[in-house]
Amino acid sequence: MFYSPLNYQGNKSRIVDRLLALLPDDVTCIHEIFCGSAVFSFASGVTRVSLNDINTHITDLIRYFHENGAEEIIGRADAIIGQYGLTNTFYEGKSRYPEQRHEGLSRYNKEAFNRLKADYNADKDIAKLFVLSIYGFNHYLRFNAKGEFNVPVGKVDFVKPLRDKTRAYCSAIQSKEISFSNRDFRDGALYRGVEQTAVFYFDPPYLITQAPYNLFWTEKEETDLLAIIDGLNAEGYRFILSNVIESNGKQNRLLAGWMGRYNVRHIHRQYLNSSYQKKNITGADEVAITNF
Ligand SMILES: C[S@@+](CC[C@H](N)C(=O)[O-])C[C@H]1O[C@@H](n2cnc3c(N)ncnc32)[C@H](O)[C@@H]1O
Repeated sequence: MFYSPLNYQGNKSRIVDRLLALLPDDVTCIHEIFCGSAVFSFASGVTRVSLNDINTHITDLIRYFHENGAEEIIGRADAIIGQYGLTNTFYEGKSRYPEQRHEGLSRYNKEAFNRLKADYNADKDIAKLFVLSIYGFNHYLRFNAKGEFNVPVGKVDFVKPLRDKTRAYCSAIQSKEISFSNRDFRDGALYRGVEQTAVFYFDPPYLITQAPYNLFWTEKEETDLLAIIDGLNAEGYRFILSNVIESNGKQNRLLAGWMGRYNVRHIHRQYLNSSYQKKNITGADEVAITNF
C-alpha cells in the first residue's frame, strides 16, 4: 500500500500493489501519461519517471513535494493553518470541536477556508493550495474556467495520518529523477525518443465513472488513446493501461471490444445484487491491460 496526502480523485493507492506486481524487472523508466498524483510511479522501485498531466496544478504540487523537505512542507502548512485560524486537532485535540456527524469540522472552518481560498486565488502560493486540498471537500482539486480554485470546505483537518502520508510521499518522490510535462496525451512529443526498456503507464479518465476530470473525456478521446497504444505496441514498446470495464450497470463496450488482443488482468471485481430487486445487478470490473 502506498498513499499520497493529496488523496487525488482516481488515485491508484488501493490497487497499486497489484499493478506493481505486473511491472517487469528490467524497466528503466516509467512514462506516466495521465499521472495525477502518480501513485504508481512513486510506489515503484524505478528511479527515473517521466510525468505528464494536462492539469498543471497537480504537477505543481508534485514539484513542491520534490523540491522541499517533508518537515518544511508540514511546517508551512501548520503556519498557514494558524494564520487563518483553521482547526488543527492534531495539536488542539478533538474535544475542543464538538462535531455533528454529517458535517465534521466544516462549520468551524468554513469562513477561514473561504478567506484562504480567496487569497490563494490572488497569489497562487502553492503552500496554500496544499492546505486547501487538505481542508477542501473530498480533497478535490477543482478549478473554474478562470483558473480559480472553487471547492467548498470539507469535514477534516490536518490529522496525523495525513502528516504521515506527507512524509512517506515526500520521501518516495525525492528518491526519483523526475521530468514533468503538461501536454495533451495526443501530443507526439510524449512518445518520441523513448528508450525501449521503458514502460508506458496509462491511467486515463474513465468513460463510465465519475470524477471532475471525466467531464471532458468522450468516446473520441478513448478511441484516440487506444490508437496511440496500438501504435506503441507496433513499435515494440511495453504498456500498462488501467481502466474500468463495468461500473454500476454501465459498460465500456469500446474498451471491452478492443482489449481482447492484449493481456487482461481483472484487478478488482465486485458484483452487487440489489436486495429488493434481484434482476437489477450492478458491478465493478477494474482491469489492467498489458502487452506483456
Ligand atoms: C484517473 S486520473 C490519474 C490518477 C493517477 N493514476 C493517480 O494515482 O493519482 C486521470 C488524469 O488524467 C488527466 N487528464 C485528463 N485529460 C487529459 C488529457 N487530455 N491529456 C493528459 N492528461 C489528461 C487528469 O487531469 C487526471 O489527473
